[in-house]
Amino acid sequence: MKHFLDLASCSTEELDNLLETALLLKREWRNGGNRPILRDKTLGMIFQKPSLRTRVSFEMAMKHLGGSAIMLGPQEIGLGKRESVPDVARVLSSYVDGIMARVFDHSHVVELAEFSRVPVINGLSDSYHPCQALADIMTIREVFGRLAGLRLAFVGDGNNVAASVALVCAHFGVTFSIATPEGYEMKPSIREQACDLAKRNGSTLEMHTRPQQAVADADVIYTDTWVSMGQEAEAQERIGEFTGFQVNRDLLRFAKDDTIVMHCLPAHRGEEITDDVMDGPQSKVFEQAENRMHAQKAVLTHLLA
Ligand code: CP
Ligand code: NVA
Repeated sequence: MKHFLDLASCSTEELDNLLETALLLKREWRNGGNRPILRDKTLGMIFQKPSLRTRVSFEMAMKHLGGSAIMLGPQEIGLGKRESVPDVARVLSSYVDGIMARVFDHSHVVELAEFSRVPVINGLSDSYHPCQALADIMTIREVFGRLAGLRLAFVGDGNNVAASVALVCAHFGVTFSIATPEGYEMKPSIREQACDLAKRNGSTLEMHTRPQQAVADADVIYTDTWVSMGQEAEAQERIGEFTGFQVNRDLLRFAKDDTIVMHCLPAHRGEEITDDVMDGPQSKVFEQAENRMHAQKAVLTHLLA
């Protein structure tokens, strides 16, 4: 694995290694601190969109491992506008040891990787959010102590987060059952990739139009915003289309009693998720957010050490 751009191009074995390393680095950190495996290494972080978790968890991950990070916001480098993506990749990779990029167009992280001398990590694109999915599978593993045979129901937009969660589930034999409004399904190409992978690992991918069907027997219920970054102009229309796809107390009644609730955050409380569910005993959203840092340490040590 040279880069970490999406979960379709990693092998299940590589992901399993990342998961084990993440769990180990979390224990190590809780027991007093990580060893400085990335001493003197620097991560360049390109952000075309806002971020709390990705930005801070990567920066702290580098710091805990003895390295540092440089934040490059949207006004700073003008990726693809002020300067071409290949030129940014060539120049930035001559200074830093790794690049993390949050972009709109997924082809931009692919292009960065193509022209970079150092590893490139996708910190969210319009198509995928692999770092999120790695932290999520880590969280599920911590809660249940196992993965194969579990059922995850995704309720909402078949977007970047859904795509990466579908793929990570397929790698680990977790059945992925998604309910989306018509017109908001996952892309057919991603669906096919996830289906093939799931079949190989003994799980399935199910598509529904009713959230109640998707969450039946679910061990995990997962949701994401109805209006992703860059879709602000469609907000009113989307909020209308997603009515009925809220994760609330009523919906939880259709799942198992001990189902857990996950959300990549930021949450739009009162839209895709209610306060009582998000703050309730079944919610794992803040554990998930913390695990972003531990999971990314695994990615960073694997690619940069
Ligand atoms: N989940 C996530 O990626 O959060 P940020 O947008 O705050 O980084
Ligand atoms: N789907 C959301 C995820 C944010 C972490 C977005 O792209 O804005």
